[in-house]
Amino acid sequence: MTKYQTDVAILGGGPSGLMLSRLLLLEGIRSVIIERQPMQHVLERIRAGVLEEGSVNLMQNAGLGDRVLREGQRHSGFRITYGDDELRIDIEKLTGKHVTIYGQTEVTKDLFASVSGNGIRILDSVTDAKIHNLDSDQVKIIGSHGNEDFEIHPKFIAGCDGFKGISRQAIPADKKNEYERVYPFGWLGVLSETKPADHELIYASHEDGFSLCSMRNECLSRYYVQCPAGDSVEQWSDDRFWDTLKRQIPSTIANNLETGPSLEKSIAPLRSFVCEPLSFGRLFIAGDAGHIVPPTGAKGLNLAFSDVYYLSKGFITFFKDKNEQLLKEYSDRALDRIWKSERFSWWMTSLLHRFDNEDGFAERLRRAEFKYLCQSEDYQRVLATNYVGLPY
Ligand code: APR
Ligand code: PHB
Repeated sequence: MTKYQTDVAILGGGPSGLMLSRLLLLEGIRSVIIERQPMQHVLERIRAGVLEEGSVNLMQNAGLGDRVLREGQRHSGFRITYGDDELRIDIEKLTGKHVTIYGQTEVTKDLFASVSGNGIRILDSVTDAKIHNLDSDQVKIIGSHGNEDFEIHPKFIAGCDGFKGISRQAIPADKKNEYERVYPFGWLGVLSETKPADHELIYASHEDGFSLCSMRNECLSRYYVQCPAGDSVEQWSDDRFWDTLKRQIPSTIANNLETGPSLEKSIAPLRSFVCEPLSFGRLFIAGDAGHIVPPTGAKGLNLAFSDVYYLSKGFITFFKDKNEQLLKEYSDRALDRIWKSERFSWWMTSLLHRFDNEDGFAERLRRAEFKYLCQSEDYQRVLATNYVGLPY
């Protein structure tokens, strides 16, 4: 049995856990990361690639601004299309801000290098991690790492272990409420070594369903099409994917679309989910462990980073000044921004997707929403302000 003493035990070695560990490290606060998967698996995950300015600022504060500023693509707008009608949302004109296209895979690589290379212990491929004595000052995590059993005795636990992790489950049922919307569709995503459809993102709403044209760089494209919730990747050949995408985006774009073999193909289910509160005893939950948004608004990683920003301030104030106030306020402060992003992501998903068994009323509401966006710069500003990210 190996025993570790540390300030904060972080469950989960994804973006939330790695960013939190990095921010604490910079303030001399010790942490141990416990990750269920091999880190190589974590580093290869492909996720959304739109960073709010707040997220890029956080990466700069974490000493990780160089590559994202050098390699990230600065975008000042994106297009929404509705059948063959289209509207460009000029986010820089409307908000004075921009977003950065930089794959989450790259974010995680930068974070991992900044943490593992600076003495932070990352226990990966951990089996059977368990939390004990959560509402006492004897809190501990036990598990197995390789053929070694371990015990970690931290002051606090940060639950950064994603939607399917154990930390949210450790909060007693009568001490939490969970709020959820499950959508009747998913996103089939394809990565292809092709020239992107355009230099900016295109969110395409069509009577047959939603599509998204995105990219990772000028030679690597990322596309999505809406698919039924129960579909499997095996049901979607590359030809079926490209035919569906080209049917659902404006013909002017489809006619010039470069297609090619999929390097990666996967289906992500869509849900909106929030757990309240995000803390219990010595446990504080951040990122996907506490909330999920449909990827339409590209808020998943960005919300995880604002959680981690608030939580890191709470830990730093505690360990530096022995002041627990920010930790006590963490859950309410994080949930305020989370619910605003949940609303935006739900609204953008409702605007752009087609739901089963819709009547003509629903479709006319959606068309009126799009027309109002086209006619109202104020309404475009509301969309743009949420898309670039609300203030922390
Ligand atoms: N013990 C240890 N680690 C665990 C456990 C467990 N019981 N369960 C899950 N994990 C790990 C997962 O393997 C994963 O690496 O926790 C990590 C959680 O990472 P994410 O799911 O990426 O969540 P988060 O770090 O909050 O990042 C949110 O990542 O998934 C995307 O769309 C999401 O962009 C958002 C961002
Ligand atoms: C992506 O590039 O993967 C992406 C971009 C924008 C989104 C979702 C995903 O809203």
